[in-house]
Amino acid sequence: MYRKATTMSESRALRTAPGALPLLGHSVKLIRDPLGFLESLPAHGGLVEIRLGPVPGYVVCHPALCHQVLVDDQTFDKGGPVIDAVRELVGDGLGTCAHTAHRRQRRLTQPAFHRRRFPGYTAVMADEVDSMTRSWREGERVELFEQLQRLTLRVVTRALFGSTQSPDQVRRISNDMAVAVGSLIWRIVLPRTFRVLPVPANRRYTEALARVHTFIDQMITDYRHGGVDHGDLLSMLLASRDDDGRGLSDAEVHDQVITFFVAGSETVAAALSWTIHLLGRHPEIEHQAAAEAQAVLSGHTASWEDLPRLPIIQRIVTETLRLYPPVWIMTRVVTADTELGGCAISAGSIIVISPYVLHRNSDIFAEPHRFDPGRWLGQGTNLRPNTGYVPFGGGARKCIGEAFSLTETVLVLASILNRWNLRPVPGIRVRLRPAPTLVPRSLAMLPISRNDRKRTEGGGW
Ligand code: HEM
Repeated sequence: MYRKATTMSESRALRTAPGALPLLGHSVKLIRDPLGFLESLPAHGGLVEIRLGPVPGYVVCHPALCHQVLVDDQTFDKGGPVIDAVRELVGDGLGTCAHTAHRRQRRLTQPAFHRRRFPGYTAVMADEVDSMTRSWREGERVELFEQLQRLTLRVVTRALFGSTQSPDQVRRISNDMAVAVGSLIWRIVLPRTFRVLPVPANRRYTEALARVHTFIDQMITDYRHGGVDHGDLLSMLLASRDDDGRGLSDAEVHDQVITFFVAGSETVAAALSWTIHLLGRHPEIEHQAAAEAQAVLSGHTASWEDLPRLPIIQRIVTETLRLYPPVWIMTRVVTADTELGGCAISAGSIIVISPYVLHRNSDIFAEPHRFDPGRWLGQGTNLRPNTGYVPFGGGARKCIGEAFSLTETVLVLASILNRWNLRPVPGIRVRLRPAPTLVPRSLAMLPISRNDRKRTEGGGW
C-alpha cells in the first residue's frame, strides 16, 4: 500500500543541498554517488536546490510538484544539458524533441501502440524468450542482463520494425548500443571540450554510434526496397503524411527508429533483470510466481490472452519498478519564469525528477526499502504522478511504450519461471549502475530446471 503524501504546505520551504563546491557545485557528488546524493535530498524539503556547475537545478521530492512539472510540458520542456547529450545519440525523435514538435510526432507514432497490435507483439516476445530459455543448460552460468539486452533488442526490431536480424548481427549491435548508451553519463557531466578529445573512450563511443547509425540506415533502406506494408511502426513512419501532404524526411525517420531502439530495449532488459534478481533473494515469492506461471502456461507458449491471468507476476513487476525504476532520472528545462511549490524559478533552470528517490520516500511508501508485491493488492497500477509512483513518467510525455513493456516483462518472466528456477551465483554481489538506465552490474544466474519438480497450484497474496 502506498501512503497519501503530505500537502505542499506541510512540506518545508526551499533549501539548497549542503556540500556545494565553488564553481563545480554538486557535480562531483552527482558523479560519485548520484543515487546516494539524490536520496539524501527529501530530508531538506519538497523542492531542493542543487548547483550543476553554474546552472541552478531543482530536485522535486514531493509528488504534487512532480505532477505539476510533468503535466505542464510547455513551461517544463525537454532541454538542458542532459537532453542535449541524449540528442547527440538519438537526434530529435519523440523522447527528446521540444513540446512544439511533440504533438505531431506523438500522433504519428501512437497508432503502433494500439491494443489491436498486441497479439502480434506478444507472439514475437514469446518466440524470443523461447529461443533464449532453450539455449540454457542446467547449472550453467547465465549472464542474464546481457542476454536480456539482446532479447529486448530483437523484440523491438522484429515487432516495431519488421526486421529479422541474425543472432550475430543483434549481438554486435547490442554491444555497440551498450557502449554508446553507457558513455552517455560521462558525456552529460563532462564539459563539451572533453567530449571531442581524441581519447580512447571518445573514439569507442563515436565508432560504436556510427555502426548503430549504419545499421539503422540499412534497415530503413531494406524496408523501403521491400515495398511491403507490414502494419508496424516503421511502415507508419514511412507512410505518414501531414495535413499538407508532407511526409517525414529520412533523417526524421532515422531519429524515431534510434529513439525506439534505445528507449525500448535496455529499459525492459533492466526491469526484467531486477525482477529476477529480487526473486532470487525472495524464494517464497519466487515460488508463488512460478506456481502461477506453471498453472497458466501449462502446455502452451505465453500469449496475449494469458496476461490478465498473471496477477501475482504483474504485482511483482509493479513493485520491482518501484524499487528499481530503469528510468531513475528525468530532467526538464524551465522555459519561462515560473513558480513551483511557492518558490520563484527562473527561465533556464533545470528541474530534476527522480522516480528512484520518490519511490523510496517513506512519506509516500510504507517501509519503502522492503520488496513487498503485496502492497499493490487491490490497486490499479496506472497511477497519476501525484501519487509519487512514476516509473513511466506522466503527462503528455508519459512513456508511449508503457503497455508494450509491461506486457513484455510479465510474459517473458512467466515463460522463464515456467521452465527455470534462476538462482544467484554464490559469492557475486550485484551492483547498481545508473548509466543512464538503472541496470545491474554482474547479474549472473544459474538455471535449475523445473521439469522434475512437483507442480504447485495458485495461492499468493
Ligand atoms: C520498463 C520499461 C520502460 C520504462 C521504465 C520506461 C520509462 C519511461 C519514462 C519514465 C519516460 C518519460 C521520460 C520523461 O518524461 O523524461 C519514457 C518515455 C518514452 N519511452 Fe519508455 N520506458 C520503458 C519502455 C519503453 C518501451 C518498450 C518503449 C518503446 C517500445 C519506450 C519508448 C519511449 C518513448 C518513445 C518515450 C518518449 C515519449 C514522449 O516523450 O512522448 N519505452 N519511458
